[in-house]
Amino acid sequence: MRIMITGATSGIGKALTLAYAQAGHQIIACGRNHEKLNELAAVSPNIETLCFDLSEYGSYPSLSPEQVPLDLLMLNAGDCEYIDDALAFDAKRFEKIININLISVAYCLQAWLPQIKPMGRLVLISSSAQFLPLSRAEAYGASKAALTYLGRTLAIDLAKHQIQVTLVHPGFVDTPLTKRNRFAMPMLITSEQAATNIILGLEKGQSEIAFPKLFIFLIRCLAILPQGLWRRLALRMSS
Ligand SMILES: NC(=O)c1ccc[n+]([C@@H]2O[C@H](COP(=O)([O-])OP(=O)(O)OC[C@H]3O[C@@H](n4cnc5c(N)ncnc54)[C@H](OP(=O)(O)O)[C@@H]3O)[C@@H](O)[C@H]2O)c1
Repeated sequence: MRIMITGATSGIGKALTLAYAQAGHQIIACGRNHEKLNELAAVSPNIETLCFDLSEYGSYPSLSPEQVPLDLLMLNAGDCEYIDDALAFDAKRFEKIININLISVAYCLQAWLPQIKPMGRLVLISSSAQFLPLSRAEAYGASKAALTYLGRTLAIDLAKHQIQVTLVHPGFVDTPLTKRNRFAMPMLITSEQAATNIILGLEKGQSEIAFPKLFIFLIRCLAILPQGLWRRLALRMSS
């Protein structure tokens, strides 16, 4: 398969890149850091790299005729920052997170969706944070809830073009993104375990992949509580 992955230089994206390259697939690994991309390319002849910043919407490269069509377009790059004081709302921080987690995805779709071959697949890495409102996650949670809505809508509208859509909802994964968290992260898994879950789910043709299973079950149970009850619980957990 020919697979394009954004955010390939770290965490889940890097683990996906390495696992797919090792399995013999051709990878277009995207990142914004030359050094990290060169290290990736040195690992396998199956990895070629594209260096650009996803927040510079005009800078997205076109793919060459040799790089298309794509079997998989995996939009994985993202970031997380928290709104520490809801009363002194930091709109700039909110904008930054919405831009990388949501708006850049729209620009990726505009640039490369037409390059996915019929029966190919678009993969969006959302988050289990989208299942329920979590303290300080105004920006991250909103970006991922919107991304999930976007993916489910695209799944309807791209079906007639024979493009499948898969949404991924990971729980906590040990990556540079979560290393910054100062709270307990239950059922934390490695990037390699996350990549294995995603790859196996895609092999089964799943339209939604969520893991770890027990974590997702518990989150889903909490998500069906009445909002007032969840609010009281969330307040207690955050204080
Ligand atoms: N870790 C978790 O627990 C978890 C849980 C649920 C969902 N997710 C989602 O999984 C995805 C990957 O996260 P991760 O945990 O693997 O994080 P990560 O290790 O921090 O990797 C994020 C990747 O995105 C790239 N990136 C960020 N901003 C960019 C920009 N403006 N232009 C180009 N590339 C940019 C980073 O590049 P650099 O290397 O240059 O920084 C890096 O390659 C994210 O969408 C995240 O929201 C993660």
